[in-house]
Amino acid sequence: MKALVAFASAHGSTRGVAERLGETLERRGIDTDVQSIDAGPSVAAYDAYVIGSPVYVGSWMAEAVAFVEQNASALAQKPVWLFSLGPLDQQRGLMAKADWPEAKEVDGLRAAVNARDHRMFTGAIQPDELSFLVRLFFRLSGGRYGDFRKWDEIDGWADEIADQLTGAADQ
Ligand SMILES: Cc1cc2nc3c(=O)[nH]c(=O)nc-3n(C[C@H](O)[C@H](O)[C@H](O)COP(=O)(O)O)c2cc1C
Repeated sequence: MKALVAFASAHGSTRGVAERLGETLERRGIDTDVQSIDAGPSVAAYDAYVIGSPVYVGSWMAEAVAFVEQNASALAQKPVWLFSLGPLDQQRGLMAKADWPEAKEVDGLRAAVNARDHRMFTGAIQPDELSFLVRLFFRLSGGRYGDFRKWDEIDGWADEIADQLTGAADQ
């Protein structure tokens, strides 16, 4: 059993989630490669795929959308899980009222590869990722910086995937 965790990430928080998913799958006995979509991973020779992207302004990163679309027919032959990073916790003011819909591409991508699941995890944001104006807008809107990734949820999801891949879910 060999799995590929492929991710896009502008500032590293999705990379961190992908690496963590990979560690759990490995610990569960699944031989797992974790690769950046930027590196152009081949989808040949894997038995399962976990593919993720952060959400920016309502969309998955373009390279992640292209990766799924271009490999859709191969991916659809095997179990696929999708994940997104985005929602920011512990916000105040207007930012606390923001809702965080799924990226607009997700429904179509799920259908294209017949994905078993799509999970949205809370993300992370640091001031040096933002331009001066966006930083100003973010603070005025009640935005708070931080790493809001919930590792328990992420580990739990990786365990669900591992259960399905190892057949533990059927017993
Ligand atoms: C300019 C900007 C726009 C964002 N837009 C969204 C969004 O529309 N929906 C969402 O859920 N998260 C949004 N986020 C939060 C990011 O998805 C989150 O910070 C994520 O952890 C970034 O992932 P990365 O570090 O892998 O690039 C936005 C962040 C920034 C800086």
